[in-house]
Amino acid sequence: MIVLKTARELGIMKQACVISAKALKLIGEAIEPGVTTAELDKLAEDFIRSQGATPNFKGYAGYPAASCISVNDQVIHGIPSANRKLKSGDIVSVDLGALFEGYNGDNAATFACGDVSAEAKRLIDTTRESLYEGIKMARAGGRVGDIGAAVQSYVEARGYSVVRDYVGHGIGTSLHEAPEIPNYGISGRGIRLLPGMTIAIEPMVNAGGHKVKVLPDGWTVLTADGSLSAHFEHTVVITADGPQIMTKA
Ligand code: MF3
Ligand code: CO
Repeated sequence: MIVLKTARELGIMKQACVISAKALKLIGEAIEPGVTTAELDKLAEDFIRSQGATPNFKGYAGYPAASCISVNDQVIHGIPSANRKLKSGDIVSVDLGALFEGYNGDNAATFACGDVSAEAKRLIDTTRESLYEGIKMARAGGRVGDIGAAVQSYVEARGYSVVRDYVGHGIGTSLHEAPEIPNYGISGRGIRLLPGMTIAIEPMVNAGGHKVKVLPDGWTVLTADGSLSAHFEHTVVITADGPQIMTKA
């Protein structure tokens, strides 16, 4: 079921989204060679709780942390660890969200640690830009396929591939709601977009092929070919006046 949110609900959800965005920014600013992903996770969790919110990933399907921190060929769902020390040249995808007064925010970004290769920078830039291409198509009267088609064509024109096995999603009182928002598709196809829909758009882009595999820990998703991967996500509300990004710090 797709839930259209009222102005009152959007007001609360905006607060969850701002907390999520500030927590993501905090981690981004703390990324440097030598820091562990567990230290970064604690920073985010402490901040989210200080705002009267809770980290909505923690305990979700048994997930053990407040954030997912995925390094280099890790695509998503990397589990923060005291054994994972970041080094210069790493690219670090951070995904996290907050639950505030019953509503969820969700966002992600890939950061460079120290000096990264020009190729890694281009992957990060392309992935961020593809998110904004998708957001532009989140318009009332359009269709879900418009979003995926925009992301996919932008990414593939630059020689990269979009992950198929994981998708964006509706979001509200639950972290994951209908509809699914794939990062691939055909414009004009799929569910119609309506004012009051809140969706998380989240392209996952691989430098190589689109295929992924999951580690025996049951969570960590890696590129099948070992290529680098980047991930950006915003929670967006569709309004009569166009898309609005809710996860802004
Ligand atoms: N970050 C994922 C998303 O954007 C959800 C993470 S699931 C969790 O939809 F279990 F890791 F929390
Ligand atoms: Co999400």
